[in-house]
Amino acid sequence: MVLTVTLNPSVDRALFIGDLKVGDTNRVLRSETDAGGKGVNLSRVLRELGGHTVATGFLGGGPGAFIRQVLDVQDVPHCFVEISGDTRTNFSVEDEDRNPPTTFNERGPEITATDIDRLFARVREYLPKLSWLSLGGSLPPGAPPDIFQRLVEMAHREGVKALVDADGEPMRLAMLARPDFIKPNEREAARLVGREIQGRNDALGAAMQLYQQLGAGSALAVISRGAGGAILACEDGIYEGLTPYVEMRSTIGCGDSMLGGILWALGAGHPLSEAFRWGLSAGAATAATDGTGIARKAAIHELLHRAKVEQA
Ligand SMILES: Nc1ncnc2c1ncn2[C@@H]1O[C@H](COP(=O)(O)OP(=O)(O)OP(=O)(O)O)[C@@H](O)[C@H]1O
Ligand SMILES: [Mg+2]
Repeated sequence: MVLTVTLNPSVDRALFIGDLKVGDTNRVLRSETDAGGKGVNLSRVLRELGGHTVATGFLGGGPGAFIRQVLDVQDVPHCFVEISGDTRTNFSVEDEDRNPPTTFNERGPEITATDIDRLFARVREYLPKLSWLSLGGSLPPGAPPDIFQRLVEMAHREGVKALVDADGEPMRLAMLARPDFIKPNEREAARLVGREIQGRNDALGAAMQLYQQLGAGSALAVISRGAGGAILACEDGIYEGLTPYVEMRSTIGCGDSMLGGILWALGAGHPLSEAFRWGLSAGAATAATDGTGIARKAAIHELLHRAKVEQA
């Protein structure tokens, strides 16, 4: 089973407009509201494919209740810690020309030391049942920057593997605990290796470097490159993943979907290169879904035969 931890989930509200006019009134053609946040997305894709997962983290107020309801409807088990503040709402504005969405992300509610203790206790309770602990996303105000590092260490003490998909200082600190799996995109990977990554060849080198930083062995370092696919460095060497071509609608949640696909396939006993193909398909299926929508099972299955994995 995979326990996902989302410390700062969100209600994602997508506004669809004709043409974005900054400093003027924009008429909204339609809007969609959905549950979001890295772990929430990952659990939804895993569940969509039929995997076992539980989503945890912090939720509060009306927006928190909305997220629980979305998860219930999709049959995703959850065990969030209730906090006193309201879970945040993130807005994205998408125009008819399909430009990349303009997003507005709130910081999120303040977390207390007691909230954090309760979360740690909850994670500890689940550890004996887990194959993977998945950590990701931004930190709400009040959460210490070493929180992912501490959770990775906690997982490792119980022999549970840890996946971290975060950025900045929390990710840098988490790397010290040597997670078993990371999946930065190129911009995040550049921050981790401390140099620019421009194109496939740079990404190959950076993925290998990150794999070594994780302590090599059975660790997995994926660098995702949007429509350019992804690079996977692992003990068999380096694989290049070619993602299926899709008409891109919105990239929100592509990375989380990729991770959902990979963890589902690994849990189902597929070999790593095959799991990588499931990840590429799930990422592409989400790219083809507009707004904050997440890949559905049928779309992932349909794209699978067009995802290619080659030894690089
Ligand atoms: N336009 C696209 N066409 C096809 N596949 C895509 C596209 N965008 C993303 N993907 C697939 O999804 C994977 C992950 O996407 P991406 O690199 O954008 O992740 P990300 O930046 O971490 O996204 P996020 O953090 O918003 O979830 C890619 O490696 C690719 O397989
Ligand atoms: Mg990402």
